[in-house]
Amino acid sequence: MRHFLAGIALAALVLAAPIAQAGGPIVIKFSHVVAENTPKGQAANKFKELVEQRLAGKVKVEVFPNSQLYGDNKVLEAMLLGDVHIAAPSLSKFSKFTKKLQIFDLPFLFKDIHAVDRFQKSPDGKKLLASMKKKGLLGLGYLHNGTKQLSASRPLRLPAEAKGLKFRIQSSDVLAAQFEAIHALPLKKPFSEVFTLLQTKAIDGQENTWSNIYSKKFFEVQEYITESNHGVIDYLIITSVEFWTELPDDIRGEVQKAMDEAVAFGNKVALDKAVADRKKILDSGRSKILELTAQERDAWVKAMKPVWKKFEKQIGKDLIEAAAKSNG
Ligand code: LMR
Repeated sequence: MRHFLAGIALAALVLAAPIAQAGGPIVIKFSHVVAENTPKGQAANKFKELVEQRLAGKVKVEVFPNSQLYGDNKVLEAMLLGDVHIAAPSLSKFSKFTKKLQIFDLPFLFKDIHAVDRFQKSPDGKKLLASMKKKGLLGLGYLHNGTKQLSASRPLRLPAEAKGLKFRIQSSDVLAAQFEAIHALPLKKPFSEVFTLLQTKAIDGQENTWSNIYSKKFFEVQEYITESNHGVIDYLIITSVEFWTELPDDIRGEVQKAMDEAVAFGNKVALDKAVADRKKILDSGRSKILELTAQERDAWVKAMKPVWKKFEKQIGKDLIEAAAKSNG
């Protein structure tokens, strides 16, 4: 792995294109995997709008949604090669570069998205933005999507009912351990393949936010959604250290400002979609939403929480305790 990353870093030095073609504007390519009508899709479009308004003629932003340019399994390497400049993969997709961000995958760590927000804004949360700097990547900020629900072809009220079922997961060892803890079979697959895997019944279920389940139509091919809120999908807005430091100071300042505003906008969209997209799914009648009793929920917590201990060394006990404190 180390050789692989070192190779990429070297290639990046050799191949990286100059950020501005002679006399032309600086082009910022922003690649992501979700639909445009999601918190991330809307934040990316807002970022483009603000940058092109304020830096007209100097900077152009090209947004590529729906995995059009890269899936999350390739985008960070492409970024180190200078082929893309900004992306916002979910926090579950950075483990090749840092183990610290795995904290966001620990099941039942945060009681809601507001607790996640408090942790991200704390000194410990902010420190994580720079946790991959030595590997050439820099976090510009966090962006919310929301808490995860469990969709399946069967009603899942208790963890034992998931035994033997195949679930698509993001590329995260914590999420793999979470499903293994309930004796299910996790499969790491790109986001772009989830709908087809569900439709063809190659897998039985998946975990995702209301906005992703709605915008990618997973609810049309899953009969049940357990409202488990067992984890979170949030994003790290990421760029390469090289691209970022090469930007002229005044432009970098404006770009960061536009990003901060786009994130604030996207976060509002996230709060709204967590309610509105759930309602659209409910109203469609295509999926049955299962609300858990306190007792049923406790059974999920009991089954999944031992995963924390497994990753405590990699993530850091202090960091986990700091995150837990954000529940207030
Ligand atoms: C997933 O792969 O399920 C999510 O990370 C997609 C996303 O970007 O929200």
